[in-house]
Amino acid sequence: MSLSLIAKSIGESATLRLNEVAAILRAKGDPVIHLGGGEPKGKAPLDAILAATSLVNSGEVRYTPPDGIPALKQAIIRYTEDFYGWRPAPENVMASGGAKQAIMSALHAILDPQEEVIFPAPYWVSYPEMVKLVGAVPVPVEPEDGSFIPRIQDIEQVIGSYTKAVILNSPNNPSGAVYPAELIKDIVELCEKRGLWLIMDDIYHRLIYDGRKLVNPYDFATDRTDNSKLIIINGVSKQYAMTGFRIGWAVANTKLIEVMTNIQGHETSGPSAVLQHAAAAAINGVQSSVDSLCTTLENNRNVLIQELKAFDGVRLEEPGGTFYSFPDFSHYDKNSVRLSEFLLEKVQVVTVPGIEFGKEGHLRLSFCGSIKDITQGIERIKWALDPNAPNELYIGERKLVRDWS
Ligand SMILES: Cc1ncc(COP(=O)(O)O)c(C=O)c1O
Repeated sequence: MSLSLIAKSIGESATLRLNEVAAILRAKGDPVIHLGGGEPKGKAPLDAILAATSLVNSGEVRYTPPDGIPALKQAIIRYTEDFYGWRPAPENVMASGGAKQAIMSALHAILDPQEEVIFPAPYWVSYPEMVKLVGAVPVPVEPEDGSFIPRIQDIEQVIGSYTKAVILNSPNNPSGAVYPAELIKDIVELCEKRGLWLIMDDIYHRLIYDGRKLVNPYDFATDRTDNSKLIIINGVSKQYAMTGFRIGWAVANTKLIEVMTNIQGHETSGPSAVLQHAAAAAINGVQSSVDSLCTTLENNRNVLIQELKAFDGVRLEEPGGTFYSFPDFSHYDKNSVRLSEFLLEKVQVVTVPGIEFGKEGHLRLSFCGSIKDITQGIERIKWALDPNAPNELYIGERKLVRDWS
């Protein structure tokens, strides 16, 4: 079949595939534990549900402006003022079908073929494929000291004549690392100095623990004019447990937003009217669900840290945000795909191989599920990997017998 070279270069999303695998196993009645998930389990805020149903009930669900309905744009403006201390104009804002689409439109708008985009590893699975989709070249940067937090020199070293943009995601998927304010400052300054676009993927910015404070990139920007190349990406998926609503946004200079809106207008005509109303209501509504989500996730994270601490052979850098951890399992197997498949086959625990995020030897374990999932999931992993574990493990009524060493 004659497919485009770009299409042929794009891999499947490992995380979405694993969601499917878990759903298929569950439907078969298998007692699978999904530690690979990427969404909070709570319900969407009531304000969002009421707003969506009210529009549906009206029967008048129409096209919207391609950059979003005024009510949602106003909500995003207020959100930006509250969390970033800057009040953008409506022309600085575009709503989109999830943060994913906002990033995609931004990449389409700023990149020509062969230009390069730098992002630290471990990175979100989609960045390399998104960059490739527009014909550009992904340049992942692994911190030289093996940690999850790059140094400014790591980034500086790979900037070349083709470099057009940097993407930062902090708190980070998959590591849960929260980049220090000093690093964000240095990168904002570096990008300004070198004339690079800086895409801040802030989708997890409110999901931070241990009393951490939000880091605001605008605090470090010296160019606050409409020439600024700082692009803020955010959305309702994670913080409001609204992943299926598919609403995100970009805040950037007016020219870029105009071009991104033209692109989005031709690609999708903009996000669904129903879901935009829901997102506006979530942003404007009672915010207690975000606070309670953070409390639950911090507690889950603490349980996960405790469980993993009691696991000889596993090294963990404690996550400071998100709902992901990225422990190092290389003591057991350096090949993360093989290890993840082994755990699924032997003890029916879904994990995501580190290689999908650009770092071998690690597995991404999520803590967005229940405490029971976390404790039992790690107990099963331990049983599968620890050669000194008892020969048998019960999963409900089912007896598993170790036939490997
Ligand atoms: C780092 C990062 N950015 C963006 C997204 C996409 O968010 P959305 O659901 O708003 O498209 C995700 C989802 O997993 C993510 O982890």
